[in-house]
Amino acid sequence: MNDHTERFGSSLRDRWMLDPAITYLNHGTVGAPPREVLDFQRTLSDEIERNPAKFLLRGFADHAAVGGPSRMRDAISHVAAFVGTAPDDLVFVDNITTGVNAVLRSFPLRHGDEIAVTTLGYGGVANAASYAARTSGATLRTIDMPSPGEPPHVFVEAIERGLSAATRILVVDHLTSATALILPVADIARACHARGVLVLADGAHVPGNIALDIESLGVDWYSANLHKWAWAPRSCGVLWTSPAQQPYLRPVVTSWGFDNGIAAEFDLPGTRDPSPFLSAPFAIGLMNEYGLEAIRDYNHGLAWWSGQMLADAWGTTFAPPESMVGSMATVPLPPSLGSNQRDADRLRGSLERAGIEAPVLVARSGLAVRVSAQIYCDREDVERLAQTVNELPAA
Ligand SMILES: Cc1ncc(COP(=O)(O)O)c(C=O)c1O
Repeated sequence: MNDHTERFGSSLRDRWMLDPAITYLNHGTVGAPPREVLDFQRTLSDEIERNPAKFLLRGFADHAAVGGPSRMRDAISHVAAFVGTAPDDLVFVDNITTGVNAVLRSFPLRHGDEIAVTTLGYGGVANAASYAARTSGATLRTIDMPSPGEPPHVFVEAIERGLSAATRILVVDHLTSATALILPVADIARACHARGVLVLADGAHVPGNIALDIESLGVDWYSANLHKWAWAPRSCGVLWTSPAQQPYLRPVVTSWGFDNGIAAEFDLPGTRDPSPFLSAPFAIGLMNEYGLEAIRDYNHGLAWWSGQMLADAWGTTFAPPESMVGSMATVPLPPSLGSNQRDADRLRGSLERAGIEAPVLVARSGLAVRVSAQIYCDREDVERLAQTVNELPAA
């Protein structure tokens, strides 16, 4: 693996709240913030509760009444440096689903236009695209994507082939959910722009998982979660919008920031708990203390090793090239364990009873399990998964 093996691994597990009796290989699904981040958030909540009216109404978000920089804007400037954007073009959203909804509901779609999604996209996001299309007289196009194992350019070509003259927006994952593949988003954006198609990137799994410099990708919008891999408390997402697309952008919820620019519009969606957003800079700072590159290297090394080791143990094939793997690996399960959703649910239940938390997915070629590597995991955790699966009865 790499030099960080000794420093990272199960000895760090008590820095998380995770139940020590559970082998937790599912960091990606909803994230898991370290104890220190939760302690910071609790301290912040205590500060809020000492004078909630003052904290939430005066000085926390951009608003005519505030004047000067707000705590939300101060927090976003730390996050902007982390994800590679200008602070003025970045806003907090509750989660990536909210960010995607804001873009798709704001975009001036016309009757006959198309929104394109891909077969590798996340279901909730595809639903948001479907709703935006339905309410504007547009249609939804779903582009068929290659199977894991193909090199990056094949994914770009599939998208190029899948667009039509009516496509206005492509919604595409930077790091896919079920298949855990890093897609060549910059190349995809170039190909789309050459055809007049705007690109909304879904970076749900990206910040903290792989290196990220949003502005260099050349997309038009980028929404992401910080509560998955950037160690922020739930729920905490961001939405970046290129300056050209900002004039008509609105949050899903309209409130006091109306017509005062995107910072005010998104920072003031009515009363809500700001502590996840205001804790994000602390979470990023903590990652930097551990060493951001060291974390990513360790997690990638463990995910890549897990892909090969599990496939060997189960007699299946882990196909993606290493350049398309981040901190997660989706590995095909032995065909004898079944192939449909019922089999997947049964299998997940068996893993849960064995004390292992990992998602079991129905992939195109059968069942697969997704392993998330985080610095509290080590090879023994993944070996336990390998062995547990090998001891399960056939379907
Ligand atoms: C690719 C992708 N997009 C969107 C989401 C939705 O994230 P959230 O529920 O935090 O909005 C997920 C969740 O796992 C995801 O994997």
